[in-house]
Amino acid sequence: MKRLASLVLLALTMPASAAEPTPAERGYKALTETPFIPGFWTARSFPDIWKTWDGVKAKPADFDAQVRDRYGLHTAPYPNDGFPMGLRKAPLLLANGIGNDCMLCHASSIMGKSVIGIGNSSLDIQSLFEDMAKADGVIKKLPFTFSNVRGTNEADGFGVYLLGFRNPDLSLNPKWKNLGLRDDTCADVPAWWLMKKKRTIYHTGATDSRSVRTLMQFMLHPLNGPEAFTKAEPAFRDISQYLISLEPPKYPFAIDKPKAAKGEALFKDNCARCHGTYGEKWTYPNKVIPLDEIGTDPTRHAGVEVAYGVAYSESWFGKESAGWFVPGKQLRWTPGYQAPPLDGIWATAPYFHNGSVPTLTGVLNSKARPKLFTRSFKTDEADYDKVNVGWKITELREPPSEKLPGSEKRKVYDTSKPGRSNSGHTYGDDLTDYERSAVVEYLKTL
Ligand code: HEC
Ligand code: HEC
Repeated sequence: MKRLASLVLLALTMPASAAEPTPAERGYKALTETPFIPGFWTARSFPDIWKTWDGVKAKPADFDAQVRDRYGLHTAPYPNDGFPMGLRKAPLLLANGIGNDCMLCHASSIMGKSVIGIGNSSLDIQSLFEDMAKADGVIKKLPFTFSNVRGTNEADGFGVYLLGFRNPDLSLNPKWKNLGLRDDTCADVPAWWLMKKKRTIYHTGATDSRSVRTLMQFMLHPLNGPEAFTKAEPAFRDISQYLISLEPPKYPFAIDKPKAAKGEALFKDNCARCHGTYGEKWTYPNKVIPLDEIGTDPTRHAGVEVAYGVAYSESWFGKESAGWFVPGKQLRWTPGYQAPPLDGIWATAPYFHNGSVPTLTGVLNSKARPKLFTRSFKTDEADYDKVNVGWKITELREPPSEKLPGSEKRKVYDTSKPGRSNSGHTYGDDLTDYERSAVVEYLKTL
């Protein structure tokens, strides 16, 4: 009896995490250990990928570093069978293959450190998918353009394309329905640590942030049948808890405190009504600003059409909780773009939903934004602009020659192209240069 009592006491005094992992801890484990989708490529594709590189005759001694630079991949800070973050071992029919996971787009590095949750603005997903297939001996073109500019991708198009092969119960329907596929929405990947503040997600604020099933759209690989979705839903419930447990990284360099305090006052007057307030008692208004008021590029907003919204809402994805959708329209229609929380904003350049502005100074001065530029796509201190806060860039006079390979053309951001305008959001234009730099100093503290 005495022994039982002391056992009970022991159990009561033991920290919860030692006894049982929290849902967020389970989510992290699921996210970093589970292949939720079957492989796309054979196990040879990645080790052989150098064979697809022009003029390379033998596997380079610094293969890992070259792979990271060429495709914009980052070292995995967890065991990953030797793959960079975003690629993983995954079953392919009866063999071992290679697939990708969420971290391909949702993890990056900053100042040499890998961070889960920063959108991967180095990634050239188009080259990666083309070369992996080529290494496997498959020369077929991708079914649509996955990315037009390095660092952005057409994830919304993936969703539209893949749902076109499904019946409402998610069984496969080989006769593809076009639900409004396009490939010029040029999406920059939002930081995951903002999830905890958001009531709605995606650039347009179109989905309730409590939705777990929305995170599972990525599982629409043709080899995943309906039962794969119901089976994985509990794991995705945990992943969702992991996402809301994430915190942004802290600005690692000196901050001029008095100047940041001036910036905070200016922020309260000019910005807080849309972006909220920060600190212990933060507020976040979760506002969607109509297109004609915000004035940023409208393509992403137009890019997900009613046909997709209806198919999504009628499917298993839309049956999660009726209350989360607008009756009749289901997939929430919004008039524009959501003003995001700005926590950790120093680490998530480039800016706006299409990544068209490389620094915070540019966000605050619409007339000073570069029109045609390239950058290193590396994330070290040497590539980081501490004055304007964001990525160092090189402005170009002319667009890249049409003759260059796609991977070179995609290194150039041309704001005159569809989906890539850098217009709008003129809320900092009337500030003086000093005031703008004070606001930027304050933004470093968030
Ligand atoms: C191919 C790249 C890619 C992959 C892979 C990917 N995402 Fe995303 N994700 C995006 C992009 C781009 C957006 C922004 C979409 C938009 O609104 O236009 C996004 C948006 C999101 C959002 C909403 C964030 C917000 O604040 O609005 C969540 C949550 C999310 N993804 C979770 C996941 C999870 C979980 C996985 C893996 C199961 C995953 N994503 C895989 C590219 C990707
Ligand atoms: C009327 C509402 C509104 C006001 C006022 C406003 N913003 Fe915004 N802001 C937005 C919206 C909406 C977006 C997203 C636009 C897009 O991506 O197309 C945005 C985007 C941003 C971004 C880029 C976020 C990212 O992750 O890419 C930053 C930084 C920003 N605003 C800072 C500011 C600052 C600083 C001020 C004050 C000088 C300000 N904003 C005033 C609505 C507003």
